[in-house]
Amino acid sequence: MSLPKKVEIVEVGPRDGLQNEANFIPTDEKIAFINAISKTGIKRVETTSFVHPEFVPQMRDAQEVFAGIHQDPSIQYIALIPNEKGYERALASNVQAFSLVVGASETFNLHNVRMGREESIRVLDRIIAKAKGNDSFIRYCIATSFWCPFEGKVDPAIVLEMVKRAEALGVDEIAICDTIGRANPKQVFDIFEKVMALNTQAVISAHFHDTYGLALANVMAALQAGVTRFDASVGGLGGCPFAPGAAGNVATEDVVFMLHEMGIETGIDVSALLSCVKQIQAFTKREFTGHIHKVKALQTT
Ligand code: COA
Ligand code: ZN
Repeated sequence: MSLPKKVEIVEVGPRDGLQNEANFIPTDEKIAFINAISKTGIKRVETTSFVHPEFVPQMRDAQEVFAGIHQDPSIQYIALIPNEKGYERALASNVQAFSLVVGASETFNLHNVRMGREESIRVLDRIIAKAKGNDSFIRYCIATSFWCPFEGKVDPAIVLEMVKRAEALGVDEIAICDTIGRANPKQVFDIFEKVMALNTQAVISAHFHDTYGLALANVMAALQAGVTRFDASVGGLGGCPFAPGAAGNVATEDVVFMLHEMGIETGIDVSALLSCVKQIQAFTKREFTGHIHKVKALQTT
C-alpha cells in the first residue's frame, strides 16, 4: 500500500462542527474550545464563519470569537466566508486566512448562500482579487463535490472545471467536500485521481462527513490518490444546516489514530484531542459519531 509519511489535519470543529448545534454555545466556551485545540499539535483551525446571523445563529459571535482566541503564531486560524459582506466583516476582525465556499451543485448553492453557482463563483473571484492584494491565505471549498441533498449525484466534470478555475485564480488550497457524507471510496478515488493529475499549485484537501459510516474509508481512498491534507472535526461534530440529513465530519481523533497506527505522522497528540472531545461534549446533546473517544482503555502503538 502506498502511503505518505506525513498528513496534515485542518480542524473544522469550531465552524463546521458547531454551526449546526441547536443551542447557542456561549462565546467563552467556543474560545476555550479553540484554545484547547491549539494545544493538540493541530496547525490549522477553521474557527468560525462570517455569515448572516439569522441564517446561522450559532456563528453570530464570529467577531467576538476571533478577537477572543489566543492566537498561537505557529497556527493558522481560518474563517469561512460566503460573500463580500462576510469578507469585509472578517477583514475588520483581522482574519488573514479565508475559507471561501461554493457548491458544485446549483440547488445546494441556492439553499446555502442564496446565489446560483456562477454568481457565487463571480463573487468569490472578486474576493480573491482583493484578498490576494492583502497577502491573505485562500482556501477554496467546493461543497457538494460528490452528492447534493437535492439533485443527487454530482457530475465530476463540474468539480474538475471548478478546480481548474480556482487554480487559475491562484488560490492556496482547494478543498473537495463531501458535504452530505454520501460518497463512497471508489467515487472518492476517481475524483481525487483526476484532480491530483492536474498538478495544481494549490494544495488539494479532502473534507468528509460520516453520514453513511464511510468517512474513514473515504480518507483511505483519498490517501491512495495522493491527498495528504484532511479536514476533520473533534468528536465528529457537525453537519450543515443547509444540507438536510448530513451527519458530522469525520472525527479528528479517529483519523489521527488511524494515521498513527499506520505509521503516518500528524504531529497531533491523540490524548489532547480526547480532552477536547470531553470539553465540547458538555455543550451538545448530540451523540458524537466518532469512535475512539468511546474506547474504554485506548491502546496505541
Ligand atoms: N454577514 C452578515 N450579514 C450579511 C452577510 C454576511 N456575510 N451577507 C449579507 N448580509 C446582510 C446584508 O448586509 C443585508 O443586510 P440588510 O438587510 O440589513 O441590508 C442582508 O444580509 C441581505 O443581504 P444579501 O446579500 O441579499 O444576503 P442574503 O439574504 O441573500 O444571504 C448569505 C446570503 C450568504 C449571507 C446567507 O445565505 C448566509 O449567511 N448563508 C450561510 C451559509 C453557511 O454558513 N452555510 C454553512 C457553511 S457552508
Ligand atoms: Zn462540511
